[in-house]
Amino acid sequence: MTIEGKKVGFAMTGSFCTFKKAFEEMDVLVKAGADVTPIFSNAVQDIDCRFGNTDEFIKKAIDITGKAPITRLETAEPIGPKSLLDILVIAPCTGNTLSKLSLAITDSPVLMAAKAHLRNEKPLVICISTNDALSMSFKNTGMLLNCKHVYFVPFRQDNYEKKPNSMVANMDLIRPTLEAALESRQLQPMVLAPL
Ligand SMILES: Cc1cc2nc3c(=O)[nH]c(=O)nc-3n(C[C@H](O)[C@H](O)[C@H](O)COP(=O)(O)O)c2cc1C
Repeated sequence: MTIEGKKVGFAMTGSFCTFKKAFEEMDVLVKAGADVTPIFSNAVQDIDCRFGNTDEFIKKAIDITGKAPITRLETAEPIGPKSLLDILVIAPCTGNTLSKLSLAITDSPVLMAAKAHLRNEKPLVICISTNDALSMSFKNTGMLLNCKHVYFVPFRQDNYEKKPNSMVANMDLIRPTLEAALESRQLQPMVLAPL
């Protein structure tokens, strides 16, 4: 199913090294005709780092989508009752957000958006990027893999020699993963050969 005309939530969490690519893929969705709503976690709004600062991230999201990002729990909550999205992608998704989501913790705008959206039994897509994917976050990833309506952008070990527990999704596959998820299908293969 094509993404054209779909209402897509694009939720960003604090894996800042992947932001450049994530914004490129946000742009891919907009250019494909999706109606994209950006959503930022608290960390994205609080942390200024070598990969950019909050004002730059907000400006970039507005430039691409024409919309100010959702930055508060109370503005994410209507995604549920008003059924505002067809599909929600968390890209990038930190170990922190992934683990909280697996335990039904709802203390950031991104987690609120996910909870509200899942209430409507619509697809949620996770695009992981975390150094502890194969250690502390592994069991939580496993729990989400086994959850209804949750799909993963295919991922891989990105540097198994220096970061043996790290896994990163291939962000080039965000659009095809969303299009498969809209048909209730997980894009395969989900685990890619290591870099
Ligand atoms: C420069 C920088 C880069 C980070 N990169 C990552 C990352 O790639 N993956 C990750 O899981 N956490 C990363 N973190 C840690 C998260 O930002 C931190 O766990 C934060 O609490 C995440 O909150 P959120 O999931 O609500 O966005 C990074 C932090 C900083 C300051």
